[in-house]
Amino acid sequence: MSFDRNIKIAPSILAADFANFGAECEAIEAQGADWVHVDVMDGHFVPAITFGPATCAAIRPHIKGVMDVHLMIAPVDPYVEAFANAGADIITAHVEAGPHIHRTLQAIRAAGAKAGVALNPATPINSVEHLLDMVDLICVMTVNPGFGGQKFIHSQIDKVKALRAMIGDRPIHIEIDGGVDPTTAPLVAKAGADVLVAGSAVFKGGSVSNPDVYGKNIRAIRDAASGVYV
Ligand code: DX5
Ligand code: ZN
Repeated sequence: MSFDRNIKIAPSILAADFANFGAECEAIEAQGADWVHVDVMDGHFVPAITFGPATCAAIRPHIKGVMDVHLMIAPVDPYVEAFANAGADIITAHVEAGPHIHRTLQAIRAAGAKAGVALNPATPINSVEHLLDMVDLICVMTVNPGFGGQKFIHSQIDKVKALRAMIGDRPIHIEIDGGVDPTTAPLVAKAGADVLVAGSAVFKGGSVSNPDVYGKNIRAIRDAASGVYV
């Protein structure tokens, strides 16, 4: 995985057909997705439950590019190796998931994956200030984690701007997760984000037998975000 700050669209398979993940991943990649975002929920850190490492391993052969695994689980550390072995390229843990995020990030890199850290909407950027030399991605949640299809929280735009300034020249992606659509994408791209996760806005209206809609939806987000990155 090489580093760049070009806009990358990462459809979240939380909005895909759960009975058809393999074909869904292939369809979104064929339709222009840059990364595939995989939301793992445990019914404890967040209210919903999705799936675990076995499902990640099962879908891995259907993804040619980057498998971006977002862990909304607590604790994290006992499962890091399992998600790395499942083929995750990036493993993102929440700073709020426990008292030892530094140790978690060490474990992720030691397991051979890129390390990401996610911030809930109420969590300030100074919580990651002393972690900048050990992360490859910082995910700013623009909804409260746990469900797809929620409304974008606008107060996070200033947070993204401040985070972009704090990162400076470091090769750290800024990922936005929640409520991204063609209206909100340019706001976060302008603020300095380069990875845009989108669930509902990519999958709405399409299916594996009607995948052109995914392509249209992905292009609409990318076009809205492009040209505004600074
Ligand atoms: C929320 C998840 C998101 C979610 C985004 O807990 O982390 O990835 O699927 O979905 P939309 O784009 O529908 O807000
Ligand atoms: Zn996510």
